[in-house]
Amino acid sequence: MRYGYTFDDVALVPQFNNIPSRTEPCLESWLTKSLKIGIPLLASNMDTVISYELADVLIAHGTIPIFHRFTTLQEQKKWVKKYEGKTFISSGIGKIEETFELLDLGAAGVCIDVAHGHSDKMFAYIEMLKKKHPDKEVIAGNVCTAMAYHDLVNAGADAVKVGIGPGAACSTRMVTGFGVPQFTAIQNCAEIAEKLRAPLIADGGIRSSRDVVLALAAGANSVMLGKLFAEVLESAAPKKETLEGWKAKYRGQASQDFQNDFYGGLKQKTVAEGVDFWVSVTGSAETLIQEILGGLRSGMTYGGAKNIKELQRKAEFMIVSSSYLQESLPRKT
Ligand code: XMP
Repeated sequence: MRYGYTFDDVALVPQFNNIPSRTEPCLESWLTKSLKIGIPLLASNMDTVISYELADVLIAHGTIPIFHRFTTLQEQKKWVKKYEGKTFISSGIGKIEETFELLDLGAAGVCIDVAHGHSDKMFAYIEMLKKKHPDKEVIAGNVCTAMAYHDLVNAGADAVKVGIGPGAACSTRMVTGFGVPQFTAIQNCAEIAEKLRAPLIADGGIRSSRDVVLALAAGANSVMLGKLFAEVLESAAPKKETLEGWKAKYRGQASQDFQNDFYGGLKQKTVAEGVDFWVSVTGSAETLIQEILGGLRSGMTYGGAKNIKELQRKAEFMIVSSSYLQESLPRKT
């Protein structure tokens, strides 16, 4: 039987640093086979995360917003018109005509999201999209094995999203027993991603800049954040003021709460594989991005890396005991 590791099970070993202190590490990365982004961060294409205000901040940093699909076609068209050429849209593996329409309108690409992306329906969908729109970029997911990664790229995907069940609002693993620990999932998929030259997006389970550094060092080209971006002022999450300050409502796209709203009780969906909860609003998107990029830049210095490729090439991981985190957390006593 194989062993799998989460972010908390591993640590990076510092490497010799020969980079002049005034050199800024380069944070550019590849989102897809032919699309570069200025920073390796993405906001989840979820209805409580991505908003116009957040998209503006992401674009200002040179990365790409991916709109969610849990709204009317009208609303998605409005989005694409506003961000023509600068946005991705989302799709499931149905309603291909709507996806074509949005691509025709000027979306740069599409993110095909299926909870279990390794399926023949997914292959067929990617093939249909690439046939009609060879010039548009296709992100496909989610998967957590090298075999699945290979198969999606083989079907035509220009990037693959990795992560089954690590998300803050996910209960897939607890409901079904399936899901590979995220650090190992990224490492396993990264090997094939490198061979096929198809960028890897690590999706879910990121709690701080530490996880971002680990995910990138393990081979991800970019990292998708749901909860962290839901918590910012600009997110699409509903907000309310309480005695303890402002709160934002974050929910999984497979949660009961979302299903009730979206399907209005009309369609009996499958058992919920996500949850909803209120979180404290942490501040602006800009502050969050600066905090993460600050940690990443500093991490790259410890890794002796002037860019993400070098961080990956020099990465030396150590498996740590559960007391490692205890030792690592700041403490007064
Ligand atoms: P974080 O940890 O950043 O994760 O909040 C965001 C990612 O979680 C995924 N997602 C779900 N996974 N059930 C799941 O199993 C759900 O209801 C659900 N909703 C979102 C998604 O990949 C997102 O980017």
